[in-house]
Amino acid sequence: MKTLVIYYSRTGITKKVAEAIAQKSQADIEEIIDLKNRKGVWEYLKAGRDAMKRIQSEIAVTKNNSDYYDLVVIGTPVWAGNMACAVRTYIGQNKDKFKKIALLCTMGGSGDQNTYAEMESLSGKTAAAKITVRTRDAGKPETGVRLDEFVKQFSL
Ligand SMILES: Cc1cc2nc3c(=O)[nH]c(=O)nc-3n(C[C@H](O)[C@H](O)[C@H](O)COP(=O)(O)O)c2cc1C
Repeated sequence: MKTLVIYYSRTGITKKVAEAIAQKSQADIEEIIDLKNRKGVWEYLKAGRDAMKRIQSEIAVTKNNSDYYDLVVIGTPVWAGNMACAVRTYIGQNKDKFKKIALLCTMGGSGDQNTYAEMESLSGKTAAAKITVRTRDAGKPETGVRLDEFVKQFSL
């Protein structure tokens, strides 16, 4: 099965988990680049507000064509109970090309369920598998075990 892991990461947590998923599933991997500056305190506040308002960020052109893949794993940090703005753009641009999707959220503590619901609704697809990783658990061995199960689930 040809699999693409595509993710956005502001501070590296989602990137770390996405890389582990790609390695375990022998998938291609690509980062979504938000062309808006998201570093700094003011930008942090704006990011939360933009996510809540369902604003799409301008993103860099992606290299991998999602059309080519049997399944696309989409990874996002939870921002104000929603997906990151750059992920919203990516799904909006690619939803008609997806065959199957699986979803990854990383978060401090809450908001994953609403984020999944929005991602499924925007893509028009029901996810084959979903996994939430808390920021503090990203590098833990037990997370590795959960990621193995996630990969198994979407590879069926
Ligand atoms: C603008 C903003 C809003 C956030 N909102 C939430 C939230 O609603 N719920 C939550 O649990 N974590 C929230 N977080 C924390 C991130 O989801 C979490 O730290 C995530 O693992 C960061 O991933 P990254 O390093 O890939 O950017 C927020 C972070 C940012 C920057």
